[in-house]
Amino acid sequence: MPPPEPADGRAGGPDGFTITVDGGEVPVRAGQTLAAALLAAGRRSTRRTRFAGRPRGVFCGIGICFDCLVVCNGEPGVRACLRPAEPGDVVETGAEPGDPSGLRAGEGVR
Ligand code: FES
Repeated sequence: MPPPEPADGRAGGPDGFTITVDGGEVPVRAGQTLAAALLAAGRRSTRRTRFAGRPRGVFCGIGICFDCLVVCNGEPGVRACLRPAEPGDVVETGAEPGDPSGLRAGEGVR
């Protein structure tokens, strides 16, 4: 369940900003990781498995399992649970680890 929105009603809180995820805007509270922002926005999947194409998302939350990989600002294989979100970040989900072409077209998952 995503955390409640701030009392002032502004997306991302008073120090918040937005990032672009699969072409849409996602609010971020200052200090959140990419994974935290994605989960707060109701996005549970970050990538798909290499062979079966099954969705994966945050599992360990501490950089151990590599289930939360995303493409961030064109950089593949970014662990969303470790990367603090920055204003202007462009994130793509749905990539298969090890796929040098990055994302499969239209494979962003929510
Ligand atoms: S959730 Fe396990 S490495 Fe990010």
